[in-house]
Amino acid sequence: MNPAEKKRQLIDSLPTSYPAELRGFLKENFKPQIAVRGDPYPLSPSNLEQIRVSYPGSFLALNIDFQDSFFVREAYGVYPYSVNHRSSYLSQGWKSLCLHGLSAEKTQSYQTYGYNTQDEAPYQWTEMSQLAPQTTQFLKEKIPMKKWYRVRWMFLEPGGYILPHKDYEPSRDQHSPRMNAINIAITHPEGCLFVVENEGEIPFKPGKAFYFKGAQSHALINHSKELRIHMIIHGAPDEPAFIHLLETK
Ligand SMILES: [Fe+2]
Repeated sequence: MNPAEKKRQLIDSLPTSYPAELRGFLKENFKPQIAVRGDPYPLSPSNLEQIRVSYPGSFLALNIDFQDSFFVREAYGVYPYSVNHRSSYLSQGWKSLCLHGLSAEKTQSYQTYGYNTQDEAPYQWTEMSQLAPQTTQFLKEKIPMKKWYRVRWMFLEPGGYILPHKDYEPSRDQHSPRMNAINIAITHPEGCLFVVENEGEIPFKPGKAFYFKGAQSHALINHSKELRIHMIIHGAPDEPAFIHLLETK
């Protein structure tokens, strides 16, 4: 059985303890291959903003490798400090912790804490940067950001899930949807899926990162016995250095 068939079988046999909405979404939107998204963005992109807004897909691979063992070790070290993230009908077993943010435990968006814009929010490296010095140094050195917003570990516990949702709300967000989140798989156990409506699964594996636009509905599941650890980075990218991180195929 090839990996896609294995995943299809996993989706078809998910226990009914997972919500029907989640199981239905995964069944409908998982594809054995990533959907063709029409023409790719120009191979010599001169304008990162144009790519962020107009690229026809929801995710673009980044050519940085996050496989060093310290990422996993330091993430497990800070895990006990993580807090429930949006623990509601939307998710189960989803925890988060800020490496850079308003504080380590303020894992929600700036509006939640009374700020009108990202730039108004006094983000800083939290005390977690002392517990995760190599992760912090790697990010500062390898990711060209003019300004860092939230940098968070996202922990999805065994049996955890996030129901289909969009990251954008027209009433809340001040600009049109664009790629704005770097999502890094620190661990990605077999049995984890991140599926985007009409596009299929984002092909995460440990150490792999994608630039992500959350405008299409997406859902996640960790149907394994291990912790799934990702990082999500928001910030103002430094063009054109950042553009060289985007994979062109
Ligand atoms: Fe999301």
